[in-house]
Amino acid sequence: MLVSLVNTSPFSDQKPGTSGLRKKVKIFQQAHYLENFVQSIFNTLDIPKGAVLTLGGDGRYFNTQAIQIIIKMAAANGFAKVLVGQGGILSTPAASHVIRKYQTLGGVILSASHNPGGPDEDFGIKYNTPNGGPAPEKITEAIFATSKIIQQYKLQDLPDIDLNTIGLVQFDGFAVEVIDPVRDYADLMESMFDFVAIRHLFAGGFSIKFDGMHAVTGPYAKELFLNRLGAPEHSLMNCVVSETFGGGHPDPNLTYAEELVKIVYGAQAPDFAAASDGDGDRNMILGKGFFVTPSDSLAIIAANAHLIPAYGSGLSGVARSMPTSGAVDRVATKMQIPCFETPTGWKFFGNLMDANKVTLCGEESFGTGSNHVREKDGLWAVLCWLNIIAVKKQSVEAIVKAHWAEYGRNVYSRHDYEGIPTEQANAVMAHLKSQFSTLPNQVFGRYQVAQCDDFSYEDPVDGSLSTGQGIRLLFKCGSRIVFRLSGTGTEGATIRIYLEAYEPDTEQHHLDAQVALAEMIKIAAQVSLLVEKTGRTTPTVIT
Ligand code: G1P
Ligand code: ZN
Repeated sequence: MLVSLVNTSPFSDQKPGTSGLRKKVKIFQQAHYLENFVQSIFNTLDIPKGAVLTLGGDGRYFNTQAIQIIIKMAAANGFAKVLVGQGGILSTPAASHVIRKYQTLGGVILSASHNPGGPDEDFGIKYNTPNGGPAPEKITEAIFATSKIIQQYKLQDLPDIDLNTIGLVQFDGFAVEVIDPVRDYADLMESMFDFVAIRHLFAGGFSIKFDGMHAVTGPYAKELFLNRLGAPEHSLMNCVVSETFGGGHPDPNLTYAEELVKIVYGAQAPDFAAASDGDGDRNMILGKGFFVTPSDSLAIIAANAHLIPAYGSGLSGVARSMPTSGAVDRVATKMQIPCFETPTGWKFFGNLMDANKVTLCGEESFGTGSNHVREKDGLWAVLCWLNIIAVKKQSVEAIVKAHWAEYGRNVYSRHDYEGIPTEQANAVMAHLKSQFSTLPNQVFGRYQVAQCDDFSYEDPVDGSLSTGQGIRLLFKCGSRIVFRLSGTGTEGATIRIYLEAYEPDTEQHHLDAQVALAEMIKIAAQVSLLVEKTGRTTPTVIT
């Protein structure tokens, strides 16, 4: 079989971010662009004889074309076999599981997560290592360095693979196995949760609505909720994968999952509702007319984990990203287990999980997960909630309110200011930094500042230091305001303000978060001079 060496020149902008390389489809369609990046990944790996690669994506536009190219390149680069999801589909958590279960030499995942898909929208690619998690910075840096200098890539002359037919396709010294993208993942979920209890819950008339947002979780939700748990068909919406995600923005939050939110706050509200993003790693949890913040969701899953078979023997520890509310810290204190505060981004959790220091982890940005894979996992979070509800036999709202009554409520909200000119955003951050020594002990109404700093983190496993991870204004009562520049925005800069007020008084727990945080919002404006420096008076998105 012929291996062609295609001579080409490197592309200079192939710098993968923490979530891999994300660009417009049109950029990926440029001659040799995808190939250069894939070759750069393969060049940084030591590919032993017999190596297997996991491959799949979220089904967005350009997914199958990219897969055909990557298969031919894997063959030419010495892989013995590629495991690819049927139809080119693998959700990000399912891909992580496949890598781990079949011990492959990592995997290539094609997704731009919650970004829109289509010919004029986004595409993305990332490499996950054999532990199932996103490649650490030293690997992504090596891939980037290679992409700047490579002169040729290798492509084997193979016919396109029929991705729709499950089975093994063999060539001389190379094979492609088209696998059921759902089965292994669904089996894992069934082994972790009390499916009998959840099946009873559904049989008893408990109603759910799951919104796949036209993205990758559709087939997974069908198998889990309909086939294995017996929920009626109308429990699912938008569960057919579309290349353009139905023209929508597959991000499960109160803004983009608008169709589901309307149902949840309407007359026909189900008992439980949830949504997941483009590649299936994010989740949003809702009850009847009730929204659970991701920070509370993490804390409540941790507090009730003993009700879930997979965690029956306890948790080794928990972790949250710094801007995520401290609700889970209170649970950890009570359970007497360690709680780690990491910088934003999933990769920091991987080291802690590999070292068995944490079992559960999460971020305020609708990402929750555990050590069953090395990615956040949307459907897993939904099953956690269903398992807890099936055992406790209480509504979502009752479970959350009982949790607040026991631990106090960490009232929480994030305000995003998107598309700010970079100099203005930097000026806001610089102004905040200039007050590090003057803010401590200052009093703002009922809040007194305890500490003001720029968050840094020393990884307890590998000792690496990450600095400049967000400005924290910590108050003596345990409330906080955090200011951070987004690392994933595409146009200008995005300032994120994370507001958190600790409220121990149950009488106040019914308050809307924006109302309860009114004083915090004012303090944030006063110390940052955001309005003065950017001219923005209201956030672009509030979650
Ligand atoms: C955002 C989220 C962060 C998440 C990341 C990737 O990053 O805030 O929690 O890990 O997307 O999904 P940011 O734009 O804030 O840098
Ligand atoms: Zn995602």
